[in-house]
Amino acid sequence: MKVLVTGGAGFIGSHIVDLLIDKGFKVVVVDNLSSGNKAYISENATFYEVDICSEKIEEIFRTEKPTHVIHQAAQVDVSSSVVDPVFDAENNILGTVRLLVCSQKYDIQKFIYASSCAVYGETDNSSIIESHPFQPISYYGLSKGTPEIYIKLFHNLYGIPYTILRYANVYGPRQTPKGEGGVVSIFINKLLNNESPTIFGDGEQKRDFVYVKDVATANMLALAHGENEVLNIGCNEQTSINQLYQMIASMLSNPNPPLYGSKRKGDIAHSRLDFAKAKNLLSWNPVFNLKQGLKETLNYAKANLNQNNDNN
Ligand SMILES: NC(=O)c1ccc[n+]([C@@H]2O[C@H](COP(=O)([O-])OP(=O)(O)OC[C@H]3O[C@@H](n4cnc5c(N)ncnc54)[C@H](O)[C@@H]3O)[C@@H](O)[C@H]2O)c1
Repeated sequence: MKVLVTGGAGFIGSHIVDLLIDKGFKVVVVDNLSSGNKAYISENATFYEVDICSEKIEEIFRTEKPTHVIHQAAQVDVSSSVVDPVFDAENNILGTVRLLVCSQKYDIQKFIYASSCAVYGETDNSSIIESHPFQPISYYGLSKGTPEIYIKLFHNLYGIPYTILRYANVYGPRQTPKGEGGVVSIFINKLLNNESPTIFGDGEQKRDFVYVKDVATANMLALAHGENEVLNIGCNEQTSINQLYQMIASMLSNPNPPLYGSKRKGDIAHSRLDFAKAKNLLSWNPVFNLKQGLKETLNYAKANLNQNNDNN
């Protein structure tokens, strides 16, 4: 089995690559390094610095002959999608379509896609199951959801097997501040630098935070399970941004208090994903609770802060 991981230099993709390499899979990474970091890519993976929107992508399928695709590459910034919906759609929709065309041409056995809770849009406080209506409130939510329909059509027309994983807010080591779960890395970095993090809105918006290593495991399990299914990957728990700040602050001495700013366009008020289907079909459930995950993330950030300071 040879797995092509798009976005493998990114936050979630690099953890998936590490896990696959650890389990003995052959891995090919495609990443344009727009937000990823070459240093995160395992030296045991074959790396191509290529944009998924470029025609060069077909050459990689032809040369490497991957058997499976795990597609993580995307424009991941909700606010940027509102400012530049064309760039967002080109990367997230057309980039995925190009990968699907190659997957059909080169007989990919499984296409695994990183979707998002952003496809559900505004929800109430209850936990959301996969049949919840598709009602994105940002172009990012729309551009993550539209490829799901393409994937299902490629399956109907050409039989490409797929699994769509709709992630909740992912957090953990190597996260850039831009992604949906980016609030964790922003808060940690600000507080470690003795600065005040900004909370947008009143801080009572709630998120379902899922640790990146659990998300990597879900992707690995999806290589062999959950065929032609859409699965939520979250913890079915809600934490407000104010509570998140308190949890991180309680792990530090003399943390700066937060500042409050105005609510951002496209931000969802509540999200909480029911993962019962992933539990049934992938035998997956989150292993890390928020406290454990935050501790690991904080330790990573501290180690890297020291490294940066040493280099200065
Ligand atoms: N982080 C979250 O909370 C979250 C939640 C739901 C869904 N997702 C999805 O998970 C996936 C990974 O997100 P992440 O948080 O690791 O973000 P990330 O920005 O760290 O990773 C994305 C990677 O894709 C690469 N990339 C972007 N556009 C590309 C292109 N056109 N061609 C090639 N490479 C390209 C970037 O350089 C980066 O390495 C994305 O598809 C995102 O939509 C993330």
